Amino acid sequence: MKRIGVFTSGGDAPGMNACIRAVVRAGIYYGLEVIGIGHGYQGMINGEFIPLQARSVSNILQRGGTILKTARSEEFMTKEGRAKAAKNLKEQGIEALVAIGGDGTFRGAIALYEEHGIPSVGIPATIDNDLYGTDYTIGYDTAVNTALESIDKIRDTADAHDRLFYVEVMGRTSGFIAVEAGIGGGAEYIAIPEEQTDYEEIKNVLKGFRKDKTSSIIIVAEGDEEGGAFKIARKVKELYGFDYRVVVLGHIQRGGSPSARDRILASKLGVAAVEALISGKFNVMVGEVKGEIKLTPLKETFRRRKELDPYLLKIAKILSI
Ligand code: F6P
Repeated sequence: MKRIGVFTSGGDAPGMNACIRAVVRAGIYYGLEVIGIGHGYQGMINGEFIPLQARSVSNILQRGGTILKTARSEEFMTKEGRAKAAKNLKEQGIEALVAIGGDGTFRGAIALYEEHGIPSVGIPATIDNDLYGTDYTIGYDTAVNTALESIDKIRDTADAHDRLFYVEVMGRTSGFIAVEAGIGGGAEYIAIPEEQTDYEEIKNVLKGFRKDKTSSIIIVAEGDEEGGAFKIARKVKELYGFDYRVVVLGHIQRGGSPSARDRILASKLGVAAVEALISGKFNVMVGEVKGEIKLTPLKETFRRRKELDPYLLKIAKILSI
């Protein structure tokens, strides 16, 4: 193999740049040419190909976002779009891809292989941490810390006013950010898509509020089956009369300089992805499980559900009394 492509796709995640750097430098170290592809799958269709050298990725390790840009491409969802992307990749002499992103990115990589024979190795990068086959995804640790910083600030004003706040964090189908930011921020209740929201329990934890607690914070994952923080807050008010404020943290969780953990994970997985490619291991995701590099078939990473740690769920309840 002589030439590989690297791209980021889907929602950006802090650490994507550190990962691009690792892929480029490992590729060059092992004698490959590395072509960066701008705007993910959309850039394959539009022909955004940028040859990258070791120095092209200088001074990006610590930056949020992605120098290659990212997109959620509608056109790539069509057979015609994928055919155009594959034709362009072949014209560029790109023999394999390193796909940095989440489940949507990996679905695209599988389609490119099944329809056009272009193989990929996936690297898990999404703040949601919702991929099977890796303990953590790139960007998750930074997102939790960003959410925590905000929760701490909200706690100050909640405490000053004796108020109840609902803080909505990201997590389209999973509660990973909510659970860790909730425990780290001392949440009174954490609403997540994996569990039915329990209004009786919310009532019980809020008993302490006003009596001997001066503030209460309920963390809601955006993908909660009840439909988000505003809906839960309104329902609790209807049921039990608690007045409230809602803060939706939104995309600030996706930005910012990556944490040490995210930079190191991104660096490890970037090198591991290139090593997987040169040893002929395709259509797998490189992940880290209990400190070891692990390869998981791309399909399994989103077909199998990564479970939340039951111990964390248990202590969140114990600590909220
Ligand atoms: O996949 C990461 C994520 O940030 C989710 O938590 C969120 O639901 C989604 O992306 C938002 O996507 P967009 O930026 O396209 O609105």
